[in-house]
Amino acid sequence: MNLGNTTPPDKGDPADHLIDSITSSMASRNDLPMVLVLLSENGLPSEDVREHIEHFVLAWDDGTLVGAVGMELLGSDGLFRSLCVRSNYRNRGIASELCSRIEVYALIAGVHRLYLLTTTAKDFFARRGYSVCSRESVPPTVQGTAEFRHLCPCTAVCMMRRLDERDPLS
Ligand SMILES: CC(C)(COP(=O)(O)OP(=O)(O)OC[C@H]1O[C@@H](n2cnc3c(N)ncnc32)[C@H](O)[C@@H]1OP(=O)(O)O)[C@@H](O)C(=O)NCCC(=O)NCCS
Repeated sequence: MNLGNTTPPDKGDPADHLIDSITSSMASRNDLPMVLVLLSENGLPSEDVREHIEHFVLAWDDGTLVGAVGMELLGSDGLFRSLCVRSNYRNRGIASELCSRIEVYALIAGVHRLYLLTTTAKDFFARRGYSVCSRESVPPTVQGTAEFRHLCPCTAVCMMRRLDERDPLS
């Protein structure tokens, strides 16, 4: 699958080709209502998205929001969050492309370790190089995020991926 331009577009850039007819863009504040609906329709926490919306990459099909993924930048650590693809657009590689985009975005921002919590997609992330880790091993800044403190259930699996071991252009 062709990743195309591996650098997420800057704010204000025209939508960037993602896959097939799907384009991607960095989110703007105006996109917040649509992102909140997409996440809540798919059972993902959305309470604190407003604070982090400028670090979301969105996927679009002719003006319809079909996917999203977000990042919380915490120095050399990052919280990968809110990966979601509209149900009738799944299994086309959209989530995989969104992952690649947000991972490159994090790498460019100086993040070396990405953490996430998941109740639904452990195997999806394992295939992308994420390993299960204990919550105790997670840096305090990441443990201090709303997802870790109260938005995700304590049964959620914690995973980590080192970005500095990866060639972002491969
Ligand atoms: C998980 C999700 C983002 C995947 O989106 P997608 O665009 O269909 O994923 P892709 O097309 O890039 O990848 C599809 C591959 O991942 C696998 N996959 C999809 N969802 C998976 C899951 N929950 N667990 C494990 N594997 C999964 C598919 O079986 C497929 O495998 P294949 O390539 O061997 O056929 C989507 O199902 C979704 O939005 N789910 C609801 C929200 C959610 O659970 N998000 C994760 C929060 S941490």
